[in-house]
This record gives sequence, C-alpha cells and structure tokens, in this order.
Amino acid sequence: MPTVLILGATSDIAQAIARELAASQYDLILAARNMNYIKRIQKDIQIRYGVRVKPMYFDATSYEQHADFIRQIEVIPELVIVCFGYLGEQKTAQANWEEAYQILATNYIGAVSILNPIAQEMEQRKRGIIVGISSVAGERGRKSNYLYGSAKAGFTAYLSGLRNRLYASGVHVLTVKPGYVNTKMTENKDLPKILTTTPEKVARNICRAIRRKKNALYVKRIWWLVMLIIKCIPESIFKKLNL
Ligand SMILES: NC(=O)c1ccc[n+]([C@@H]2O[C@H](COP(=O)([O-])OP(=O)(O)OC[C@H]3O[C@@H](n4cnc5c(N)ncnc54)[C@H](OP(=O)(O)O)[C@@H]3O)[C@@H](O)[C@H]2O)c1
Repeated sequence: MPTVLILGATSDIAQAIARELAASQYDLILAARNMNYIKRIQKDIQIRYGVRVKPMYFDATSYEQHADFIRQIEVIPELVIVCFGYLGEQKTAQANWEEAYQILATNYIGAVSILNPIAQEMEQRKRGIIVGISSVAGERGRKSNYLYGSAKAGFTAYLSGLRNRLYASGVHVLTVKPGYVNTKMTENKDLPKILTTTPEKVARNICRAIRRKKNALYVKRIWWLVMLIIKCIPESIFKKLNL
C-alpha cells in the first residue's frame, strides 16, 4: 500500500487530506507536536478506513531534531505533505521579535529544514512527490500580514526551485495556495464567503492535483484572478491601499 507522511498533521486541512488519502487506502504517518491529539486522529482514521496509521512527534522549529526524525522514519514515503503553518499576529510581530521569529521559523525555516533531507533522499532514489501548503499571502506583501506573507513567499520560491531541481530525477513538487479556508487558523476572522472554502474541498483538490501532477494549485479558481489583479496594481497606488 502507498504511504504518505503528513507534517503538521493536527491542522484542519491536514486532517481532511489524511481522511481523503485513507479513503484511497494510503497508510499514514501523522507527524505533529500534540501527541494526544494526533493519537485521537490515529484511532478515528484506523477504525473508519482500516489503514495503518503511525503517529510521530514533530516540531517544525526544533531543527536540531529533524535529522533524528528522518532516521526514525527509516524510509521516506513516496508522498510527503507539509501542512504546518503559523499565521501569528502581524501587529504583535512588528513590535516583538519573538512573534516575528515564530512566524518566519515555522512557515519558512522549519519547512526548509525538514524538506532538504527529504528532497535529497527522493532525488537519490529518483521517485517521490512533495506537496507544500503555501499561501496567496506570499504573492504580494500587504501591511495586514506581510510577516506571514514574506515567510510564505520564501516557501513558495523554495518549492519552485525544488521542483526545478528535482524534475530531472522524476520527483514532483506541488505548491498549494489555498486562499481563505475555514479552519482553526481563521476561526476569529470574518472571511468573505465567495473567497472562502472548506478543508475537505482543499483536500479533494490537492489529491486531484497530485494525480494530475500539477505544479501549482489555487483551490478556488477565483483566487487566480484576484491575485492577478493584486499583482498588476502599480506600487505607487498599492502602497496607499488599506489591504
Ligand atoms: N486557513 C487558511 O485560510 C489558510 C490559507 C492559506 C494557507 N493556509 C496554510 O494551510 C496550512 C494548514 O493550516 P490550517 O488552515 O489547517 O490551520 P490550522 O488548523 O490552524 O493548522 C496549523 C497547524 O500547524 C501546526 N503547527 C504550528 N506550528 C508548528 C510547529 N512549530 N511544529 C509543528 N506543527 C506546527 C499546528 O499544530 P498545533 O496543533 O501543535 O498548534 C496546526 O496543526 C498552513 O500552512 C497555513 O499557513 C491556511
């Protein structure tokens, strides 16, 4: 049976992906910081889908533990999905380095730290798929969330470079830019319905994009248009907008 490694597996989007893949008879390695939560998810998925689920401790910002984490897995699965992320508080992060660092460390450095050795192994065995959940926030810096946005911009550029490097060895990289999704991350935000989707829809679209070997995915097509418009606005006008 194929196996998937999901990093940040307590995320709402990750849980929906895990269920979607378990329904297709994937065995799962679910890696997250909250072991109690991940064990509850493990039980639920095992009972419902009858697949093997292995829970593992993983903290994206404990870089020094990443080599050990890779050793414990032994064989990197064919499919690896990076789901962890930290939105943080932009205003707090502007004044407080710890919050700014947490945003950069989780969304960018943590992802690079764990994907570097994974990419290395996949390149050597000439097989594998890496999926990274980035964000439309990375496409243009806005005053309301440019710290999260700049970390995701770095992650998007990293995934693009990785796809370019690994193409020759037959390893595929998919970048996902979900737009707004109703999850724990956005539960206190008033999101416009037309631009917002569900974790289940994100999961279905990611699984389809994996099968079709797509390079990049906007979950709601409308986001492609929204971002095209946003990227076309001249900087002289953009800097005056309240975005
Ligand atoms: N929701 C949206 O509108 C939206 C839009 C665009 C992109 N995204 C991206 O989609 C991905 C999934 O987010 P979500 O919407 O499903 O939100 P979520 O349910 O809040 O999930 C975020 C996950 O990241 C994990 N995490 C945070 N810091 C971590 C660390 N240092 N080590 C390991 N795990 C860590 C959290 O784990 P704990 O449970 O331990 O805190 C949590 O499970 C994220 O990359 C996010 O940036 C979301």
